[in-house]
Amino acid sequence: MKKAFLTGITGQDGSYLVELLLAKGYEVHGLIRRSSTFNTDRIEHLYQDRHEANPKLLLHYGDLSDASNLNRLLRTIKPEEIYHLGAQSHVRVSFDMPEYTGDVTGLGTIRLLDAILETGLDSRFYQASSSEMYGLVQAVPQSETTPFYPRSPYACAKVYSYWITVNYREAYNLHASNGILFNHESPRRGETFVTRKITHSLAKILAKKQKHLFLGNLEAKRDWGYAKDYVEAMWLMLQQPKGDDYVVATGETHSVKEFVQEAFGLVGLNYENYVRMDERYLRPTEVDLLIGDPTKAAKQLNWKPKVTFKELTKIMVIADLEKEGLDPKDFGLEPSPKGQKP
Ligand code: NAP
Ligand code: GDD
Repeated sequence: MKKAFLTGITGQDGSYLVELLLAKGYEVHGLIRRSSTFNTDRIEHLYQDRHEANPKLLLHYGDLSDASNLNRLLRTIKPEEIYHLGAQSHVRVSFDMPEYTGDVTGLGTIRLLDAILETGLDSRFYQASSSEMYGLVQAVPQSETTPFYPRSPYACAKVYSYWITVNYREAYNLHASNGILFNHESPRRGETFVTRKITHSLAKILAKKQKHLFLGNLEAKRDWGYAKDYVEAMWLMLQQPKGDDYVVATGETHSVKEFVQEAFGLVGLNYENYVRMDERYLRPTEVDLLIGDPTKAAKQLNWKPKVTFKELTKIMVIADLEKEGLDPKDFGLEPSPKGQKP
């Protein structure tokens, strides 16, 4: 039985990846942070199986700022595959906490890579790199050969992590890969990222718990895919004979305005009656346009996105209506599939 170690297991991507790995028969070990409240909501359905702890899912306390803990965990677990997803992942917040973001999102990666070297393991390594690294884009669409031009402390930290992963692959012959993932969303997306903020607020507006939705820049364009599709690409990268770098994207771009319009339109509302501008959500430097070229992932990994922009919006709107106790059928929408956590 293969063992995988995940950082960021409690996040959006971690929760979908652990589902995929358990279904493939892996024993999964995840790093979790000690918190005064539970932070394992997204994986609770996997951890508890009829009130018994799932023997194939093991959680360990730790933090990406704590190198000795990471060393100890790798030495004892000895995972064949490491998926490094943990990060301070919010771009706007990285302007408020630049040093912390550099420490966790940047230096956290070297702590983990060094732990692999120091323990002498030959674990395969996945680095959660980001389309934010393209920032002020130098080419349209962006591919593996497009130069980076980061526009936030978060993106600068991710550029460091990208290059240290390449460097350790070349210097120490590690099987290490960068997935340069464009934005990917789902009903498990954190509520402060724009797509989820929109679908969550829409449900609250329909439930009469909220009157308006306050947003920043509606003109920014993103290449949005579905998180469940994207974690498959991560796994595929670690099944290749050698480590490499891959863009994972849909190849389509849409503005924030289009996403709001689509979401509100699904329930028959005109977004202009509800959306208000709030300057607090603007960024000192913005990334105006992202659109990825996933040709290499399609050719080498045989990976393709399955869920379209419109389907993604619908999945998220329906899940948030249901969370608010509303019946999607009342708005002409089909409920989420039964027996699956959206
Ligand atoms: P997310 O939902 O924000 O999850 C981040 C995870 O990192 C959480 O499990 C969080 O733990 C953990 N974490 C944060 N600080 C930590 C620390 N100091 N020590 C240990 N763990 C820590 O992010 P996501 O959307 O799943 O994204 C996964 C990764 O892909 C991130 O590295 C992100 O930057 C990158 N990425 C995401 C996208 C996207 O569109 N989603 C695109 C490209 C790249 P808590 O639950 O305790 O907070
Ligand atoms: N969060 C947020 N909140 N964004 C807003 C808002 C708002 O109220 N109003 C407009 N936006 C705009 C932002 O200015 C940005 O241009 C766009 O919506 C998307 O913002 P986010 O959803 O916060 O995502 P992001 O693109 O900055 O970063 C996400 O994707 C990256 C991949 O490109 C994160 O998941 C990063 O971790 C990831 O690397």
